[in-house]
Amino acid sequence: MKQLHKQSSPNHWRDEAIPSSQTPPYSPKTLKHPRSLSRSLNYLLKEQRLLFILVGILIGSTFFILQPSLSRLNPSEPKPPIPRSISIPIHESRTVPNRGSKKGGVGRVPVGVGRRRLRIVVTGGAGFVGSHLVDKLLARGDDVIVIDNFFTGRKENVMHHFGDPKFELIRHDVVEPILLEVDHIYHLACPASPVHYKYNPVKTIISLLNYKTNVMGTLNMLGLTKRIGARFLLTSTSEVYGDPLEHPQKETYWGHVNPIGVRSCYDEGKRTAETLTMDYHRGAGVEVRIARIFNTYGPRMCLDDGRVVSNFVAQAIRKQPLTVYGDGNQTRSFQYVSDLVDGLMALMGSEHIGPFNLGNPGEFTMLELAQVVKETIDTSARIEFKPNTDDDPHKRKPDISKARELLNWEPKISLREGLPLMVSDFQNRILNENEGKGNK
Ligand SMILES: NC(=O)c1ccc[n+]([C@@H]2O[C@H](COP(=O)([O-])OP(=O)(O)OC[C@H]3O[C@@H](n4cnc5c(N)ncnc54)[C@H](O)[C@@H]3O)[C@@H](O)[C@H]2O)c1
Repeated sequence: MKQLHKQSSPNHWRDEAIPSSQTPPYSPKTLKHPRSLSRSLNYLLKEQRLLFILVGILIGSTFFILQPSLSRLNPSEPKPPIPRSISIPIHESRTVPNRGSKKGGVGRVPVGVGRRRLRIVVTGGAGFVGSHLVDKLLARGDDVIVIDNFFTGRKENVMHHFGDPKFELIRHDVVEPILLEVDHIYHLACPASPVHYKYNPVKTIISLLNYKTNVMGTLNMLGLTKRIGARFLLTSTSEVYGDPLEHPQKETYWGHVNPIGVRSCYDEGKRTAETLTMDYHRGAGVEVRIARIFNTYGPRMCLDDGRVVSNFVAQAIRKQPLTVYGDGNQTRSFQYVSDLVDGLMALMGSEHIGPFNLGNPGEFTMLELAQVVKETIDTSARIEFKPNTDDDPHKRKPDISKARELLNWEPKISLREGLPLMVSDFQNRILNENEGKGNK
């Protein structure tokens, strides 16, 4: 090795020129150092080499400083092709490298670099609320993974994102575990409308409850959140207040729920999900957020799912009488979906756990709502009365002062402004009544 080293040394020829009688004793490298240093300096200073090196360093560092902002300014940059629809079975689900922030926060961002792109899971992201949330998260620049079993959701709700490399869709039932590494988890998956949860009450319980066999939805997502150190947001509901004895409802109200009624699988399921969420927070230090959502409406709601706004709008478009259950004097408040999405994102981004009421405090009787629908769609629409359903709450109206104060959030869109925004979507889908058949 020593021999080889000597031969390849640049000093080799000069060393050979020294007569053997004058050959100095072997000297360690350190003694040669000053000479080779001065030679290196000479080499650098000759022919302006140093100047060229400095200019090269300057150009390189300028490129690396400017590169992120240049790529942001150039949205037309071609995107790598990916399949139109990505559906990844559990064993193929992508696990990504640990993203550093174990607390799911955005972390400190150096000036001029911009907000760190988050990786976000939305369970139930192909549903009504979920798909609007996905739109907004992607528009903000985050990576979004939708998990949905299409029980009530539709691929059409998120189809416009197929081909976007920041979007992934996984057909998966949240009652089964899944492993992904993300920063935030919005947990919306749940059969949420009366028609669906009454149709399959045991499944609803499965999505929500805490016992080993029928609990796995919320529990799985909380377990995942704990494991990867993410932040979890539960979309609970105003149904946790049951048929309320306090009006309007504040978050401090514990509710008045029939535990054995036809609606209990949903109401009690969400109450248990809230309990689990808080227990994971208290017991395991998991970062959680709880939103209690009041009636929300907008484009992409399921047709004929038994919710009053979608029922009235679909009936008016089909020229059918609007069905009012009971005397029509029970009250509800109606929030446009974009207001809710803003509230959910404000809550996820805040340092507050909740629960927070997210709803529009405007209060309408069912008859008043029917009137607004008539004025918006068809003034000649008739109203038809039917006997009321069991355990239908008499009144509902959120007190949103907590969200106003701590999240700086309040709804912006009134019922009269919001209703027309969902009508054209319903008209198109009703014209194509085969919706849903064949795309599941
Ligand atoms: N829209 C409202 O007025 C309202 C009010 C209160 C609470 N919420 C809550 O908001 C969330 C979203 O509601 P929505 O109105 O968008 O309902 P939705 O039915 O349109 O969406 C629910 C989504 O969850 C999916 N899903 C159901 N069970 C699943 C499972 N086991 N695994 C994977 N995916 C599953 C469905 O396919 C659907 O895409 C729900 O948790 C609901 O309880 C909604």
